[in-house]
Amino acid sequence: MKDRLEAIAAEGRQALLAAAGESDLQQARVRYLGKKGELTALMKGLGSVPPEERPGVGALLNQLKDELEVLFQSRLVKVREDDIRMRLEREKIDVTLPGRARFTGSKHPITLVTEEICAIFSALGFGVAEGPEVEKDFFNFEALNFPKDHPARDMQDTFFVSEDVLLRTHTSPVQVRTMLQHAPPVRVVAPGTVYRRDSDITHSPMFHQIEGFLVDRHVTFGDLKGILTAFISQYFGRGVGVRFRPSFFPFTEPSAEVDIQCVICKGSGCRVCKGSGWLEILGSGMIDPEVFKSVNYDPAVYSGFAFGMGIERIAMLRYGVNDLRLFFENDVRFLRQF
Ligand code: DAH
Repeated sequence: MKDRLEAIAAEGRQALLAAAGESDLQQARVRYLGKKGELTALMKGLGSVPPEERPGVGALLNQLKDELEVLFQSRLVKVREDDIRMRLEREKIDVTLPGRARFTGSKHPITLVTEEICAIFSALGFGVAEGPEVEKDFFNFEALNFPKDHPARDMQDTFFVSEDVLLRTHTSPVQVRTMLQHAPPVRVVAPGTVYRRDSDITHSPMFHQIEGFLVDRHVTFGDLKGILTAFISQYFGRGVGVRFRPSFFPFTEPSAEVDIQCVICKGSGCRVCKGSGWLEILGSGMIDPEVFKSVNYDPAVYSGFAFGMGIERIAMLRYGVNDLRLFFENDVRFLRQF
């Protein structure tokens, strides 16, 4: 028994010392110290040892087991250290290299301009509303005083889903939807996407507008001029010339188109303003009593003004972009500049 014990002890030590990696080492442990290991087998055989020798052999077995266990633990620490050292050698990491920054994207210029315009009107007390892009003929035209055969419809030909459902041609239907839901006074801006059957250098079949309107008692054209002038001086800078030109829209009376002094040549005349010194930026007017009738507002009590502007146009002036199509080509070299 003692000889056998000495032999196994020697083998076990040898196996633990020779193990090259952690898995070898674990295997050696199982083989000698495991439940079905050699040493455990010897312990089970202790019963066949003559009783007077048993305590001596038992003590020896325990001692050997402890010794191998200690050896195993110290070898484990060592092989793990070796492993880490080897991996560090292999994967030399240069911690002084600058990191690779990831491009996180940025807001689209149309979104930026929309947010800036909304912020200015919010500060003037306007709420923000939205309406559907697929709209009923009633909201897009009829309630805005464009009857079925009105010639003003020609300028806003669009994509029809059915006879009464279309892609909205402007954000003005949000006026009607808002007024049907809220009693006066109302003060709202409504940004959004609109569609028309138009496509060339300065027209895209999909573009963006922002509508604004205010209804209360005693609202005058002076209020319209005051609010729009305040907006223009905040957005384009104090001292920019503003001009109101008579115009026509079915849903406003009187109507005016608003020009600002050319932001490129400051009014002296250039290619952008076609020599006139002025740039048209929006349409506006006093809301027509016919519109009030279709939303059940009493035109004898209430008056109001409305305006609508093209966001692409404002963005082109703001950032000096000379081709509308750049906004929708999604070329990141263009978009990254904002
Ligand atoms: N909806 C008009 C268009 O798309 C723009 C417009 C003009 C809106 C006058 C208004 C307004 O609210 O009062 O051509």
